[in-house]
Amino acid sequence: MRNYLKIFLSVCIMAFFVFQGCNKDEGPFVLTGPIPQDTAQNDTNRISYSKEIQPIFNSNCTTCHSELHAKLNLLPCCSYDQLLNTGFNASYIDTVTPENSRLYKHLTGTLSMMPPSGKISDEQISKIKNWMKEGGRNN
Ligand code: HEC
Repeated sequence: MRNYLKIFLSVCIMAFFVFQGCNKDEGPFVLTGPIPQDTAQNDTNRISYSKEIQPIFNSNCTTCHSELHAKLNLLPCCSYDQLLNTGFNASYIDTVTPENSRLYKHLTGTLSMMPPSGKISDEQISKIKNWMKEGGRNN
């Protein structure tokens, strides 16, 4: 009878150490190497947020989307941070599937059409889409 007890206790101790292994903290997950969905080969090819994307907002959006807009400020000071973090429904962008992003859906009319007066050009929309695909950088 005492032998059974010893075996039972040994199994318990072994099980304890086995389960401990599962909880081992392996530290933060660190992504090494390039961003997987980064479609730009290098910085020269990469679409520039400040030079190419912000000007689209300046000429089509900021009359309404300034600091006075309740949800989304697209002025140069704030647009990037608003789109990623601080806008009412942030994040508005999706770097894996840009078509699923709020920004893209508003630009194409899946959500309320933006600008309300009618679509910006196809080239402008695809530029915004490709900027997201390239990682949505503040470059
Ligand atoms: C004539 C004014 C006007 C213009 C121009 C305009 N918007 Fe809007 N936008 C609005 C209003 C009002 C809302 C809030 C009501 C709604 O969601 O339909 C809104 C909502 C949005 C939203 C959703 C915000 C949220 O959190 O739900 C996005 C994204 C957006 N606009 C992007 C744009 C972009 C990008 C442009 C330029 C290409 C643009 N808008 C141009 C008036 C405008």
